[in-house]
Amino acid sequence: MAARFFLCLGTLLALSAGFMAASAARKADAGKLTLYTTRESKADFEQIKKFSEETGIRVDIVSGKFPELVQRLEAEKNAPKADLFMTADGGLLDLVKQKGLLQPVTDKTILDQTPSALRDADGHWIGLTTRARVIVYAKDRVNPDQLSTYENLADPKWKGRLVMRPGSALYNVSLLASLIELDGEDAAAQWVQGVSANFARAPEGNDRRQAKDIAAGKGDVTLMNTYYLGRMLNSADKAEQEAARKVGVFFPNQDAAGTHINICGIGVVNKTPNRQAAEQLIAYLTDAPAQSALSAGNYEYPVNPKAEKAAFLEALGSFKAQAIDFSVLNAHREKAKILLSQGGWT
Ligand SMILES: [Fe+2]
Repeated sequence: MAARFFLCLGTLLALSAGFMAASAARKADAGKLTLYTTRESKADFEQIKKFSEETGIRVDIVSGKFPELVQRLEAEKNAPKADLFMTADGGLLDLVKQKGLLQPVTDKTILDQTPSALRDADGHWIGLTTRARVIVYAKDRVNPDQLSTYENLADPKWKGRLVMRPGSALYNVSLLASLIELDGEDAAAQWVQGVSANFARAPEGNDRRQAKDIAAGKGDVTLMNTYYLGRMLNSADKAEQEAARKVGVFFPNQDAAGTHINICGIGVVNKTPNRQAAEQLIAYLTDAPAQSALSAGNYEYPVNPKAEKAAFLEALGSFKAQAIDFSVLNAHREKAKILLSQGGWT
């Protein structure tokens, strides 16, 4: 009898603990959303504000670094405080999906206005904007006819002429992850060694710094994300504008697998009670007017083909993009980091 009593008590305690956890979860509130984002983008915030004005749905934005926000999502897994999560990099978006922190988007409007290649196969995240990692060169010292592929940057003809951001930067890690997928691990490892052998100086600085160093004659060729050049050309800082005007953009691998692109995306947090309102915001942000505004403000490519590209991107012309699934950027991330470090791109 005594043993049975304790068993019942145990069940009771478990039940009440479950009840307490359930009561800690938020109640559905169709009038209020919380977004966790790693992006500090004025254009993003403006479009979200417009959404609130048009729908009456308030959006609380919590900005933070990726590891910190993912840690929060994990801690709140059973009673999420966020309804949506936004970040850049298809590999990181896939990582958040694999952790079980997102749920599929099924809204037909969203699926209709976003190409399937620019969202997760299961709808766990939806692309908002993309960017290309292009070859940037000194207009007065490099003839673009000399340029062709990422792979060709490992050719000894570029010895002492490349300036690069460190290999630990995610943009380079994801680029290499794509090359591991397309060329294989051995070729990717050799490529890193070849590129490293051509450095004009040790890798340092952010993407903008590379353009500035080329403008200053410290090297002739680098890799950059397209939007940084758009920002530099429109910068309030005259020196940045001048540096950007001295460099040219080349889309590599056009006769091969295409130029490496990456993506900024948004997903609905698993177990949110406000799924419908969350999808409403994604539908708004992927509709053509918001997409055109995001492109104009961020110098990123819209995902919605009906949207207008920023004038800067229009001027660069169209290009063939890599057609790989963004999940491979997650699958090969750790290997890519190792190859970059072992190959001297540090
Ligand atoms: Fe960036």
